[in-house]
Amino acid sequence: MKTLIIYGTTQGQTRKIARFMEDVLEDMGNKATIADASDEPPAPDDYDAVLIGGSIHIHKYQSSVTHYISQHVAALNQMPGAFYSVCLAVASGLEEEHHEAEKIATDFLAQTGWKPLMVTHIAGALKYTQYDFLKRLIMKMISKREGRTTDTSQDYEFTDWDAVKEFIHEFARNAVLSKLPWTKNQMEISG
Ligand SMILES: Cc1cc2nc3c(=O)[nH]c(=O)nc-3n(C[C@H](O)[C@H](O)[C@H](O)COP(=O)(O)O)c2cc1C
Repeated sequence: MKTLIIYGTTQGQTRKIARFMEDVLEDMGNKATIADASDEPPAPDDYDAVLIGGSIHIHKYQSSVTHYISQHVAALNQMPGAFYSVCLAVASGLEEEHHEAEKIATDFLAQTGWKPLMVTHIAGALKYTQYDFLKRLIMKMISKREGRTTDTSQDYEFTDWDAVKEFIHEFARNAVLSKLPWTKNQMEISG
């Protein structure tokens, strides 16, 4: 299976996650191509499956991700795909933060018209050392409110790599199944 992995990133964590997904797929014997949504990414047409992800910054994904999906939505809706959303809200102990992150992804997909087979929410990272003064202050305030660390002398990663690996295994299984004509019909009837 040839899979295209597209990502949007601001501080690099979503790129790191996309590279990890590429390694997992290749370890399973699949071919994977990875591309930054802002760097002339290939069209999805020549691939069997697609994974597209972005990170949330002030309730929004990177505009390059929105643009890629909108530009290719017709092709994307004809192939097995998954959307992966990276943010910090899913690492929060507050249930309403999880709902908020889910709503951002649901509204985003509704707005683009893409109907991926699967959607996942992945915890990102707090990169205090990469932020400018204002961002560091804002992120420190948010962290304090959510009970996270406010020691800005280092970065903190919350990504659950085992969960990402499990998601990719499940996606690969579903992508293969969705290509079988009888399963595809079944998915359309039930879905
Ligand atoms: C300025 C700024 C705004 C952010 N806004 C949100 C937000 O609205 N919701 C959220 O859950 N996470 C938010 N985050 C956390 C990022 O989604 C998280 O750091 C993620 O790992 C960034 O991924 P990237 O390195 O691929 O850009 C924000 C981070 C920064 C620096």
